[in-house]
Amino acid sequence: MFKKETYIARRAELARKMEGRGLIVLPGHVESPVNYRGNTYHFRQDSTFLYYFGLSVPGLAAVIDTDTGEATLFGNDFTVDDIIWMGPQPRIGDLAASVGVMRTAPFAAFAAGVGEAVARERKVHFLPPYRGETKLLLGTMLPAGAAPSVDLIRAVVSMRDKKSDEEIEQIEEACATGYEMHTLAMSMCHLGVTEREIAGAIEGVSLQRGWGVSFHPIVSQHGETLHNHNHSGVLEAGRMLLVDAGAEATSGYASDFTRTIPVGGRFTARQKDIYDIVLAANNLAFDIATPDVRYVDVHLASARVLVDGLRSLGLIRGSIDDAVAAGAHSLFMPHGLGHLMGLDVHDMEDIGENYVGYDEETPRSTHPSCSACRMGRRLEAGMVVSVEPGIYFVPALIDKWRSSEGAGGGTLGKIAAGFIDFARVESYLDFGGIRLEDDMLITPDGNRLLGARRVPITPDEIAKAVNG
Ligand code: GLY
Repeated sequence: MFKKETYIARRAELARKMEGRGLIVLPGHVESPVNYRGNTYHFRQDSTFLYYFGLSVPGLAAVIDTDTGEATLFGNDFTVDDIIWMGPQPRIGDLAASVGVMRTAPFAAFAAGVGEAVARERKVHFLPPYRGETKLLLGTMLPAGAAPSVDLIRAVVSMRDKKSDEEIEQIEEACATGYEMHTLAMSMCHLGVTEREIAGAIEGVSLQRGWGVSFHPIVSQHGETLHNHNHSGVLEAGRMLLVDAGAEATSGYASDFTRTIPVGGRFTARQKDIYDIVLAANNLAFDIATPDVRYVDVHLASARVLVDGLRSLGLIRGSIDDAVAAGAHSLFMPHGLGHLMGLDVHDMEDIGENYVGYDEETPRSTHPSCSACRMGRRLEAGMVVSVEPGIYFVPALIDKWRSSEGAGGGTLGKIAAGFIDFARVESYLDFGGIRLEDDMLITPDGNRLLGARRVPITPDEIAKAVNG
């Protein structure tokens, strides 16, 4: 948690941005049972609530009145019966004071107060709810069919999308833990070790130093499955292990790194050919990302590097410009170059990707060259983005493109027929996938890698990290 002045200033800025437009309603999270009420999932506060109120405590909600700028925190004090099980707990008044809120009320007054404002025809602004409990709660106080507030979405995005120095410090802390997680994974990447052992060990590193992981770690020899949470494999000679994992600092800020590690530490020649292309695409993003550049253009520049390399291996044909313009790279990298990061590993994705990664100047495109990009808009100093190019051989996707090849296959058929050498591509069906991901801060005059040390990334650095 930051000092209370941070939260006071954030709420004041939000109230200013929304001045005179009614009530801002910010429900926090409640505990969520796994299999019975008293056995709950790990508690994670809603990130927007955390941003404005800093309190990682279940059962809270807040309202900001944009006419007065005044915030009210709603919640119930714990009873002695709770305290017997939980130990001493702060009172709501103390929690509120710790983040500079002067007004508190019992939780029941939240729904009642908002319902009353609705009855008096005051405008009520809320963000898109994504948890069932929050949807149910909002349903009790808002008219049927009430829609999330685009004004509030835009105001929150305009604040959360650029990180202050104190936020960057927290992300750096998460990156330091991420470094330890990934180097531990590398040291374990040997024949016969199970994916599960590595996943458990690296999650343990994060649990020891913070709140835990920023998302379920992806630890798989099937790196071609982008978010593979199956950890049942045993490491085999000649395969690569894709590890995509990050830590969450105690403050809630995330890191997110991906490395692809050859079992035993040494790539085969075929693996290294592809690896070097992905590494060049990652490095290129750090050469060109700077304020005012659109992230979709960084994505397309990285795609050129991928296409150039795949062309030299005979997998893509035609000119680089034409292949990238058509979207031929999306057979091999069916995702965007990266996403905003912060309190969420995909920062504010709950609020709506098209408001967070795009804007009026850069609306989301449906073109195959960039339709999968989560982030496309112009970069600004203070933004934190992931940089995660990859090359994957996804048998189902290759089948789909191949079967659409030709005149009857529409846009996809034309790209497939014009640019893809399927005979070559199909010789890579057992390859898997490679992704290399770092975290980048956009600075006033360019960018910098987050984390005091770059997680080992060159083939030599990886060989050393695997073999001590
Ligand atoms: N690295 C996980 C993700 O970006 O979804």
